[in-house]
Amino acid sequence: MKLIISNLKMNLTLEEIKSYIQQLNEIKCQRNKLIVCPSYPYLSYFNGKNYSLGSQNVASEKMGAFTGEVSIEQLTSLGIHYVIIGHSERRTHLKEDSDLIRKKLSLCFDYDVIPILCIGENLEEKEKRTEVLKSQIDSALQGLKLKDIILAYEPVWSIGTGFIPTREEIKNTLDWMKKYMKSHYSIECKVVYGGSVNPRNIESLNQIEEIDGYLIGGASLKIEELKRIIEVLEVEK
Ligand code: 13P
Repeated sequence: MKLIISNLKMNLTLEEIKSYIQQLNEIKCQRNKLIVCPSYPYLSYFNGKNYSLGSQNVASEKMGAFTGEVSIEQLTSLGIHYVIIGHSERRTHLKEDSDLIRKKLSLCFDYDVIPILCIGENLEEKEKRTEVLKSQIDSALQGLKLKDIILAYEPVWSIGTGFIPTREEIKNTLDWMKKYMKSHYSIECKVVYGGSVNPRNIESLNQIEEIDGYLIGGASLKIEELKRIIEVLEVEK
């Protein structure tokens, strides 16, 4: 069972999302778990049974006077139990730091929401990525009482570029992440890969056993591409 997480980011108009949902509801995803993360305004339009919903973000505060924010309680009241936390786009453009990320993670654990914590190195850090990932994991998780969590390894240089790490690099990095989470945090957590996943590279990526799933941006916007990726993953190996 692989996790297939589609991150639609800030894309699609209402008309486009309606047609997307219609086609999404027809997709067969039985061996794997599909989690769709649309923009906030569209969450309640999704009505299919073949996928779960996730949010792209959550406020770091519980409730109250925080204009423009969406709280964890509001998300759970919509039946949402997955939230992407610390995406590199939020770290870069919105200056999210580890204190903020930790607060969001803590709220997720309090409300039994499963966070999808994104970490990844930029191009200059590629050769020392283990160090970078270790620091991102530790600064996000320190002092928290951990519950279920999914880690997403998204090399920043791979997001939206068409470039992906070699199979060997992905295998080693994910293997390291799993072992690190076990030895330092005593949890077995699922680790997904994100960055330029598409129908052309999914078969090759699917040969890496360490990958527990995929966080997909651009390709998940085109329903045909998402469908093709799912079809490849649905085939019994
Ligand atoms: P792309 O699949 O467009 O590279 O985006 C990856 C991503 O950022 C998913 O969160």
